[in-house]
Amino acid sequence: MRIRRTILFSAAALLPVSIALGSKDGVVAGKNSMPSNLTTGFPSCGNCHTSTPNSGVRVDISGATSVAPGASVAMKLAVSDPSTSTQSGFALEASAGAYVAGTGTRTDTTVRGAPAITHSNPLSRTWSFSWTAPTTPGLVTMTATGNAANGDGKDRGDQWGFYGHDSTIPGAMYRVFVNAPGITSTGEGCTGTDGYRPVLGMAKAPQIGTTWNSEAYNLPPATASVGILGLSNTTFGVLPLPFPLKPIGGGDCALRVSLDVMQVAVASGRGSGNGSAQIAWILPNDPNLRGIKLYFQQMTVDPKANTFGFSFSNALTTTIQ
Ligand code: HEC
Repeated sequence: MRIRRTILFSAAALLPVSIALGSKDGVVAGKNSMPSNLTTGFPSCGNCHTSTPNSGVRVDISGATSVAPGASVAMKLAVSDPSTSTQSGFALEASAGAYVAGTGTRTDTTVRGAPAITHSNPLSRTWSFSWTAPTTPGLVTMTATGNAANGDGKDRGDQWGFYGHDSTIPGAMYRVFVNAPGITSTGEGCTGTDGYRPVLGMAKAPQIGTTWNSEAYNLPPATASVGILGLSNTTFGVLPLPFPLKPIGGGDCALRVSLDVMQVAVASGRGSGNGSAQIAWILPNDPNLRGIKLYFQQMTVDPKANTFGFSFSNALTTTIQ
């Protein structure tokens, strides 16, 4: 009787200890009993915390979203909910590149080879760290979950949710485009439907006698999206550039390139912020064009963005090769 009791007691004591290992000092997919789909699907944090995600939670990610190959990108992640508590935790994973931990965070690359970062101390609600872009141009996606904790040291009473405009829907993506070498980005996309900011990138530089694509992401799906090629990023007729569109109802948007050539595509994809548009550009095989600078920006029909009814991406500066 006595022996039995002792065994039961120690088994019960061991369980929370082993689980706690994976929470106070961070949560990484597939480790310390964490589910492998921690940032993209269920059961995620709900495996141990409140089983369904909480709608009042916000996981905000910020940082440059159109970058050079190998660039070091300063990033910030913030978790909030309506409560006044200041403790929290998060898990963030990327499809490529590498995270570099800052104060109160730690990285882990051992799970499925995917770069991951998490809190190393839950006494915070915002964390700064950096991410090193891969050297291969193209789109990189990130997914995250956050837990706005009440600080009672238990897995109950905390509020968790996924990154995205609706914290109860898993799988929303934060996108960063890694451009071809030599292409620079200026400005950030302005606020579109549900807070998503259009990102414009180019995986191949303009070259005489070739076609190449500009790629825009984070758009509302099934809307018209206009690729703008400009010969100037300082003036468009009488307008100085960048030209803030606030006076005409354009919210935080700005026109950054002259409207010289425009092409329209329909954004494909499903779900808020998941629209993307690719525009093919072509240059004649004329060596005299080499060295000329071309500027690009994307303008997308988005009635919910602002009263002007359009959202704008960052702008790209390219040089014809
Ligand atoms: C395997 C079970 C498990 C999973 C999955 C899990 N947690 Fe926890 N977590 C716990 C336990 C147990 C505690 C309470 C023990 C402690 O750390 O004090 C905890 C506590 C926390 C705390 C500290 C808050 C407090 O009240 O002490 C944070 C922050 C946290 N978890 C974040 C997360 C996030 C974010 C996720 C999803 C990405 C997650 N957890 C998924 C088990 C889990």
